[in-house]
Amino acid sequence: MFPLPSRVSSDPLGLRTASIVSTFCTRSNKLRPAGGEGISDACRGVGNPIAMIGPLGFNRITATWAEESGREAAMSNIVFDEEMGRIQRAIAESHDLVVRRNTFMETLNLRTGEKVLELGCGGGFYAFEAGQFVGPTGHVSAIDISANQIAAARERCARFAWVECQIGNLLDLPYRDGEFDAVYSVQVLEYAGDLRKAFREIRRVLRDGGRFLNISTNWSSCVWYSENKARMRRVLDGWSAHETHRDLPAILAGELRKAGLQLLHQRAIPIVNTSIGENSFSYWIAKLIPGYVVGQGAVNKEEADALVAEFAELDQRGEYFFSLTPILTEAIRIA
Ligand SMILES: C[S@@+](CC[C@H](N)C(=O)[O-])C[C@H]1O[C@@H](n2cnc3c(N)ncnc32)[C@H](O)[C@@H]1O
Repeated sequence: MFPLPSRVSSDPLGLRTASIVSTFCTRSNKLRPAGGEGISDACRGVGNPIAMIGPLGFNRITATWAEESGREAAMSNIVFDEEMGRIQRAIAESHDLVVRRNTFMETLNLRTGEKVLELGCGGGFYAFEAGQFVGPTGHVSAIDISANQIAAARERCARFAWVECQIGNLLDLPYRDGEFDAVYSVQVLEYAGDLRKAFREIRRVLRDGGRFLNISTNWSSCVWYSENKARMRRVLDGWSAHETHRDLPAILAGELRKAGLQLLHQRAIPIVNTSIGENSFSYWIAKLIPGYVVGQGAVNKEEADALVAEFAELDQRGEYFFSLTPILTEAIRIA
């Protein structure tokens, strides 16, 4: 049985995501209490939720930290709290992302004894794998800006003393120049406000010849079948605002070159769902997107409910279809 995180409803495609919706509907780090059905009037029309760092996995603690530290809380137009962290970890356990993780680790090709850095480690799924590869003579440093994600990552990696998970911002890495053989990030850089700064930091902490691996998604590549094409288009366009750098893979070659990293290759690791069970990527995304796009004003609550109901109907008829094209990018640091 696919493990459901606590407090995440298991109703088929349930739009009972009010607590998630509430996180989309705040203009400050003082999030509204979770719970309650539907989307409150207060949440509607918040076209510009406060910029917060990070995709699925932001939390209240981090938001407070960012504000208290007086920094520009850098990044995307999405606020992630503890609930979002739980959903993000559920997505990471979906079959689609297990397959993706295997492909990624195979390409990263870590060797025993290597020193590696993960940016935005979330619940520590990749750090765990990396820990197994490098072994006790190596070291894995994993950072995430979210305290609750780091708590989850520490728990997951507890058996590896050589995997160190700590709260940190990828824009300001607490590591020495040339310290790592490899640096990697998965679904993180698209939320980084200052991309140039992020790549400067990545290059700085890599040794000469060190490798950099990234997965980011071209959301423009999403095909999500609905008989109501106009509504689906508004939903996908509304969702595109959740990233700071939309379709990041398309600009990576140039950004890498400017930073002194040489692109080796890019390839797709596509996701295709022809049903919408809990073990599929789109099941979880379908829990997130409607609330977000209602908050953005792209569709109203009734339209969002109707869309979710349509997914269930399409699934029942065997006509459900979702596809998306995340891109794996591999580069090395050149002297
Ligand atoms: C979509 S999740 C991906 C987590 C993990 N890489 C995975 O694939 O399971 C993105 C993560 O990046 C983190 N994050 C966002 N901005 C960050 C930043 N500036 N520095 C460090 N972590 C950040 C978020 O807190 C979140 O846990």
